[in-house]
Amino acid sequence: MYVYLNGDYIQHEDALIHVEDRGFNFADSLYEVTRIYNGRPFGLNRHISRMEQGAELLQLEYGITTEQFTGIVDELIRINETPEASLYIQVSRGVAPRDHPFPPEPTEPTVFVMVKPHEPVPWEERLQGKTAITEPDMRYQLCAVKTTALLPNVLACQKARSAGAFEAILVRDGMVTEGSNTNIYIVNEGTIRTFPLVNILPGITRSYVQEICEHAGIPFLEEAFSVGAMLEADEVFLTGSVAEIFPVVQIDDQHISQGAGVITRQLIERYAEAVTARCGQYTPER
Ligand SMILES: Cc1ncc(COP(=O)(O)O)c(C=O)c1O
Repeated sequence: MYVYLNGDYIQHEDALIHVEDRGFNFADSLYEVTRIYNGRPFGLNRHISRMEQGAELLQLEYGITTEQFTGIVDELIRINETPEASLYIQVSRGVAPRDHPFPPEPTEPTVFVMVKPHEPVPWEERLQGKTAITEPDMRYQLCAVKTTALLPNVLACQKARSAGAFEAILVRDGMVTEGSNTNIYIVNEGTIRTFPLVNILPGITRSYVQEICEHAGIPFLEEAFSVGAMLEADEVFLTGSVAEIFPVVQIDDQHISQGAGVITRQLIERYAEAVTARCGQYTPER
C-alpha cells in the first residue's frame, strides 16, 4: 500500500515520522477519518472543512487546499486500487526541538494521508446492532497523568509566550491549579500554599520542594487559592524538573509584592543542595 507523506507517495512501511514530530510529542495535530465507497470519498469536503476550522483554532497552517487533498485522495485510491476503503488524514505542526510553545518559522507541517481497504459490514449484521457500556467522561480530567496529549498546555504556553510571559498559570473554577508545564505556589508570611493533588500533575519537583519544606520547617499547605489571592501574595514561584524553581515576579500587569522573596530564594538554594547531594556539584555555583 502507498501512503502520502509530506509531498511523496511512498510505501506504507517506509512512511516514518520523526521522534520530534509535535504530533508525537504533544498531540499538536489534527486528523480526519471518512469512508471511501466505490472509489469516492464520502463527505470529504465536510471533513476538510472541520479540519480547517480546527486548524484555525490551533493556528496550525498546513498549507494544503481542499482541491489538493481531493487530488491526493484520488491518487491514493487509484494507485492502491482500493474502491472500498477508509481514509485517514493527519496534519501536525511539524518537527522541531521539543518545547511547549509553537516552533520558530519556518517549521514545515507534517501532512499524512492513508487509505486502508475496508470490508463493508453485511446488511443483516448491521441490523443485529452492537452492545455498549456507560463510562464517566474523563477526557479533560486526566491532568494527573503525564500524557502526551498536551495540546491545551501547548496553546496556553504559546499564549503566555505571545504575551511576552514565561508561563501560563491555569485557573479552574477561579482557583489556580498549576502552570502549563510547571506547578505553582504562593507564599504568605512564610507559609507556602499550592493546589492539592486533585487532577493536577503530581510534579516530582513539587515533591522535592515539599520534602525540603518539611526539613527546613517551612509550612507547606496543599490548599487551593484564588487568582486574587495569588496576585496579593508576598511571593509566587513555579517548579518543574527542567525549569527547577523560578520566582514569578509579575502576573498579567501585576507585580508580586516581594518579587524573588526570601522563601523562594531559600528553596532555590536548598534545591541546588539537594541536586549536589545526589548528582555532584550543582551548576552554576552560587
Ligand atoms: C502540567 C504540568 N504541571 C507540572 C509539571 C512539573 O512536573 P515535574 O516537576 O515532574 O517536572 C509539568 C511538567 O512537565 C507539567 O507538564
